[in-house]
Amino acid sequence: MNALLLHPAVKPLLFLLALGPFAYLLGGALTDSLGANPAEALTRGTGDWTLRLLCVTLAVTPLRQWTGWTALARWRRMLGLFAFFYGLLHFLCYAWLDMGFDWSAVLQDIPKRPFVLVGSLALLLMLPLAATSFDRAVRQLGAPRWRALHRLVYAIALLGLLHFFWMRSAKNNFGEVAVYAAVLALLLGWRLWKRARRRISA
Ligand code: HEM
Repeated sequence: MNALLLHPAVKPLLFLLALGPFAYLLGGALTDSLGANPAEALTRGTGDWTLRLLCVTLAVTPLRQWTGWTALARWRRMLGLFAFFYGLLHFLCYAWLDMGFDWSAVLQDIPKRPFVLVGSLALLLMLPLAATSFDRAVRQLGAPRWRALHRLVYAIALLGLLHFFWMRSAKNNFGEVAVYAAVLALLLGWRLWKRARRRISA
């Protein structure tokens, strides 16, 4: 499996796969086939993919350790950057389609709506991670500091979940939120369990 994952075709394939939702949403917008409310479909679609890709990025390390497929680690950075890409698109959809790129209205709206404030905090926290996702940044920061900084990804995912929960709570619609909560609880729980075991055996 490791040899297959290291095949040179896998990286471009994964890249295209991660671009798929963007192509789908862009195509839908251009052909006016996103349903009755295309603006909502775009904002929601990009929000969904931000959260999904955050979960996929967080799943790489546990999956690598469970399966022994060490080559999986090569895709973590790209997946994390795609989560950031969809997060930025999501914010741009909101700023454009909801607020008409009126930046002073955006700045007034963010603190007024708690769920938007929490989403903004999550996106803000993604910035230093995206900015330090390159080899030079890893060298400059040093591995321990880089690792500590990149643990922020858990806080980002939890804030993203809270943002989603808050938005859906207005309609008492928690089905999907519960699925994401279960996935994140599993991924975070696994990491905490590993850390506790390390402490006990040290
Ligand atoms: C890591 C950052 C973020 C994540 C993971 C995220 C995720 C999501 C998700 C999953 C949804 C619901 C989609 C659905 O109902 O299917 C959503 C909706 C929404 N998000 Fe975010 N979001 C983030 C950041 C932001 C930011 C920065 C803003 C704006 C400043 C924002 C504004 C909105 C709005 C306005 C909606 C509701 C759209 C509607 O009512 O149709 N989000 N977001």
